[in-house]
Amino acid sequence: MTASAVITGWGFYVPRSVLTNRDLESRIDTTDAWIVERTGIRERHIVSDGEATASMAANAARAALDRAGIAAGDLDAVMVATTTADHLVPTAACLVQEQIGARRAAVFDLGAACAGFVYGIAVAKGLIASGAARGVLLVAAETISRFIDWSDRSTCVLFGDGAGAVVIEASDGRPGIRGTVLRGDGTKRHALWVEGGGSLMVHLDGPSGQMYRLRMDGQDVFKLAVPSMARACEEVLAAEGLRIGDVTLLVPHQANLRIIEAVGKRLGIDRARVFVNIERYGNTSAASIPIALCEAVDQGRVRPGDLVLMCAFGGGMTWGAALVEWSGGVLATGAPGLRDRARSQLRRSHGALDPR
Ligand code: COA
Repeated sequence: MTASAVITGWGFYVPRSVLTNRDLESRIDTTDAWIVERTGIRERHIVSDGEATASMAANAARAALDRAGIAAGDLDAVMVATTTADHLVPTAACLVQEQIGARRAAVFDLGAACAGFVYGIAVAKGLIASGAARGVLLVAAETISRFIDWSDRSTCVLFGDGAGAVVIEASDGRPGIRGTVLRGDGTKRHALWVEGGGSLMVHLDGPSGQMYRLRMDGQDVFKLAVPSMARACEEVLAAEGLRIGDVTLLVPHQANLRIIEAVGKRLGIDRARVFVNIERYGNTSAASIPIALCEAVDQGRVRPGDLVLMCAFGGGMTWGAALVEWSGGVLATGAPGLRDRARSQLRRSHGALDPR
């Protein structure tokens, strides 16, 4: 029987420094009222000097591992969904591996912009279903603030920094990730992009700072985001023979409150079953869904057996949806024997493991 992939741990981290709409009023031609009305955002967290994607990711990862009750040394894979890794080489996942001590894990980054967490859920499910991994750490972390043009008022008000993580473990017969839908459209890439920094546009000499700034056509993004996310949700539900009424909580990418409300309206889900925390974090790109998921669980909005639907949309363009039957960390609390069995299977397939 194919093992199911169960979220057993979750955690998030945001930088201490908070940038409010009032702070922005003193820097650019904007108002708190405009930002709240058009986006729902009131404040966002911004990294301090010396802080970046991997250190935030490692903090979120430690919280998720604690919650799952497993050691970093038990992980088979560490995946970081990000478009703002600390370096071109190495990946953010390599830095996270070092910082948390995931000594024998496969390590790689996943680039799908704001849809990175949903893409990562699908990859983790696949790794587990194929038998390649039994314990996967998926972290989504972004330091968008360093790529923002702080003079461009239509983009700089939207974004914030942060990281969210989940531990996903193999389980025999427990509920877990039910299905995913992943989509993309490269023809729309100019709606949200960073031109420089890749192999086509490397300027090692001279001033070229603007090339590394995030550029966005907000209205194009808006128009593409709403139908794409709604359709992905409908597809993932249809594939499971479910309807929107079966969903306990929709946890959408927190890009803009108006986008979230429009997606909810298209899907026909009432506002009380849509999780929103954009007012305190802004758009943290790939990190927004796991941050929201953590808060939803901690607030008691998600309980074991509930169906959680996540959907995201981002640069590329990329989008997708993931449907999860929430376990409540079932491997740690409900079935302790499974862990020991999993460990002995790993010992058989990997030989001697590190002492722990
Ligand atoms: N403060 C005050 N005025 C602003 C402003 C700001 N921060 N940003 C833009 N404006 C102005 C514009 O200059 C424009 O002025 P004009 O009419 O004099 O030309 C006016 O507000 C309307 O601009 P418009 O772009 O039509 O606003 P909008 O209602 O489309 O809202 C966004 C702009 C960016 C908030 C909105 O398009 C959006 O959220 N798009 C999606 C972006 C997104 O989610 N990206 C990430 C996806 S992962």
